[in-house]
Amino acid sequence: MSTLDDPGTPFLAVDAAVVRANADRLGKHLDGLGVTLRAHVKTTKSVDVAALLHDGRPAPITVSTLAEAEAFAAAGYHDILYAVGIAPDKLPRVLALRDRGVDLTVLLDSVAQAVALPAGVPALIEVDCDGHRGGVQPSDAPTVAEALASVGAVPRGVLTHAGESYFADGDDALRAAAAHERDRAVQAALALRAAGFEAPVVSVGSTPTAHFATDLTGVTEVRAGNFLFFDLVMAGIGVCTVADLAMTVVATVIGHRPDKGWILTDGGWMATSRDLGTARQRVDQRYGLVADLDGTLFDDLVMADASQEHGILAIRAGGTAALPDLPVGTRVRILPNHACATAAQHDRYHVVAPGSRAVHAVWPRIRGW
Ligand SMILES: Cc1ncc(COP(=O)(O)O)c(C=O)c1O
Repeated sequence: MSTLDDPGTPFLAVDAAVVRANADRLGKHLDGLGVTLRAHVKTTKSVDVAALLHDGRPAPITVSTLAEAEAFAAAGYHDILYAVGIAPDKLPRVLALRDRGVDLTVLLDSVAQAVALPAGVPALIEVDCDGHRGGVQPSDAPTVAEALASVGAVPRGVLTHAGESYFADGDDALRAAAAHERDRAVQAALALRAAGFEAPVVSVGSTPTAHFATDLTGVTEVRAGNFLFFDLVMAGIGVCTVADLAMTVVATVIGHRPDKGWILTDGGWMATSRDLGTARQRVDQRYGLVADLDGTLFDDLVMADASQEHGILAIRAGGTAALPDLPVGTRVRILPNHACATAAQHDRYHVVAPGSRAVHAVWPRIRGW
């Protein structure tokens, strides 16, 4: 069996026990609120990781690409929500999946998208809850539903995503974001029902709001994806702790610049992504925190800078720890700011157990669109 000392760096390590614990935490919370989890597979993009969620049984999922939908359909998942506004040129692939018996629902927020749908295709209407991205106002949902009905497509309900919750800091702000997300979704569903549509699906979700919702009356399902891996952005707003991060980038020390206080690695932004998501938070973690190969964090050490294939490790601004002695060839683990972006740089996961370097599986990731 190989260990984290073996694969060529940089590569991803995933701790499956941490993923399971993260899954249990959200599962229990949502069970307590009486709603179904429709896990978003956009972060992990892995059938194997998703299998950690429901003892390997296919369950309802959300996807961000049709490539994810196709890969999960091939693995036996048949209740799939494609939660990016539908582009008409993607409809042949949507229909091909539906013809294979997959109950694939699409998302839209305009009359133009609605009237382009073929008859029989179910759609959720995207509702804006916080000005983050697309979506109609709740009171405008019936107009889109009427356009869907006019072409024989199926208005199945509403969806909203509290994208601004990633900038909510602290429990009160997170709880408020969750309550607002629910209120806007329920308002839109009520508007649809008042206009004569059933709107059986009321779908909300983001990792922060999923964890901080206290009352989901009127909601039928919650979507979240990041919660399986978590990252420093989530830790920075208090949704998890650094110990809950399940995925790291393994890199090798390739040099030193003592004059500058730098340790160089072969893990540049191609390995971590350019995401500096904590820069706007109270603690800027630069490109990520740094741990040894067994997962123990180095005091005050961050990945301070990055070029394409070089990472620069240094003591954070204001840090008091000494630069650790990491000879050339030493492997380190970088804890990422944004798990979705970091994972997207790689095509597989090396799966380990806590406190062990043994790699007991290599799981592929789904790539492309
Ligand atoms: C439509 C939609 N639903 C749910 C999510 C939840 O994602 P996360 O768990 O990463 O917050 C996202 C994230 O971008 C999304 O776009």
